[in-house]
Formats: sequence, C-alpha cells, structure tokens
Amino acid sequence: MDRQELSALAHANHPIYAPVSDSRVDDLLARTVRRPDAHVLDLGCGKGEWLLRALRTYPAITAVGVDVSSEGFGSTRESATRLGVADRLELITQDVKEYRSSCKADVVLSIGAAYAFGELLPTLRAAREQLGDDGMFLLGDCFWEREPSPELLEEMEGAGPQRFTDLPTLVDNVVADGWTPVFQYVSTQTDWDDYEWSWVGSLADWALDHPDHPDREQLLRVSAEHRHRYVHGYRGVLGFVFLLLRRS
Ligand SMILES: C[S@@+](CC[C@H](N)C(=O)[O-])C[C@H]1O[C@@H](n2cnc3c(N)ncnc32)[C@H](O)[C@@H]1O
Repeated sequence: MDRQELSALAHANHPIYAPVSDSRVDDLLARTVRRPDAHVLDLGCGKGEWLLRALRTYPAITAVGVDVSSEGFGSTRESATRLGVADRLELITQDVKEYRSSCKADVVLSIGAAYAFGELLPTLRAAREQLGDDGMFLLGDCFWEREPSPELLEEMEGAGPQRFTDLPTLVDNVVADGWTPVFQYVSTQTDWDDYEWSWVGSLADWALDHPDHPDREQLLRVSAEHRHRYVHGYRGVLGFVFLLLRRS
C-alpha cells in the first residue's frame, strides 16, 4: 500500500489531523468565526476538514486552504460538492512559506502545521501578514507537557527544525510577539487516545479483516510501530494546545 492510501486509511475515523474531538472543533470554530461573511484561510490545511466544517456551519463565509500536498484535495472537493459548499472553497497546492494573497483574511487557522514554517515565530509572522484588521488566528501546536527523555527529544525534534517548549513558555512567546490570547484549549488525554488509537486501530483492524491481503503484514507492522512510539514514548509527555489569538 502506498503512503497516500495508508494515510487515508489511518485517518478514516479521525479526519482532523490533530488530537481534538468533533464537538470541540465546532466550539473552537464558533469562537473563531465571528463574522457571518468571514474570509477564512487555513495554512497547512491537510484534507481541509476544518474548512469543510466551517463552510457547512456558516453559509456566507468563504475559505481558502493551502497545503504543500494535494493528496487529499480530490476527496475534499468531492465532499465540498456533496455539502453544497464547493463554490465558496478554494484549495491551493503550495508551500505555505511562499503563499501570499492580497485578500486579507478575517480568520487564519494553522493547526499542527507550525513545522511547515520551521517553528513558532515564522508561523505567527505568516498569520499576521495574512490577517485583516481585528482578525482572529487559531493556532494549534505541540508543547512539552512533561520533560521528554533524551530519546524522545531526539525522535520528535531531531529530524526537523521545530523545537517545542513547555506551555507557559509557548504562551509567553506568543504574547511577546504581539498577540493577545483570548481562549486556550489543551487536548485531553482522551483527545490524544482517540486520535492516536484511531490511527493505530484503523490500520490494525483493516489488516485483521483482510487476512489474505498482500498488504496485511505491512499494515500490522506500521500500526505496531506507531502504537509503540505512542504508548512507550510521547503519551502524556507531548501536549497539544489551541490558542485563539488577536493582535495586541
Ligand atoms: C498535521 S497535518 C494538519 C492538517 C490540518 N491542519 C488538520 O488539522 O487536519 C499538517 C499539514 O501540514 C502540511 N504541510 C507540511 N509542510 C508544509 C509546507 N511547507 N507548506 C504547506 N503545507 C505543509 C502537511 O502536508 C499536512 O497536511
């Protein structure tokens, strides 16, 4: 099974790529989308699930999603058509670091995509550049809930440019950059378990349901590796926070 098929299967039961429940997504959107005709920009939109939910709930908003990968865009467009919101959604395949638009957004979302900018400060800068006056920025990012072991630190930060901090430092860094947080939601352990076990379980279930399939062993192995990384590694150590930000 190639990476795209595997990813689609792993996320089938949890289409938002972040540890957060459906009801909390609705709540976060309600706090963030404050104008009926808001223009919403999602930087690192993945399959555009946040935008689809916003478009479905708020019938006069418009939305643009930007992602370097267009892997999921086909199914996103199909969903948008089925929901009757396709004429209000634009999907752009581009590196977020290069994305520029003259159309300022009322809402910027960037959920689990700060690594795309390298780290937090460039993410905040990109949001600031794209936001109109009095716009709302919903940031979703990881932090260290507990001190990571050297092995976990190497695994999570070794490969990429992003360095996580603890939550107070993350909030202080955001404030020092000229933002005022107006809401915070920290993913619960249940949010995390739902997210990670949707991933692990979808692959394992599929493999066990297809005993004669040639991809069975691959899926069992990938599922087991992910399960091991989670339960022996970052469960309870890595946190995820949503911060709703306005410019100070
Ligand atoms: C963890 S996923 C989050 C997706 C989405 N925000 C969500 O919550 O469902 C991170 C996304 O960032 C995208 N991404 C990574 N690097 C990027 C880049 N340089 N430019 C644009 N998107 C990028 C990935 O393709 C992926 O879809």
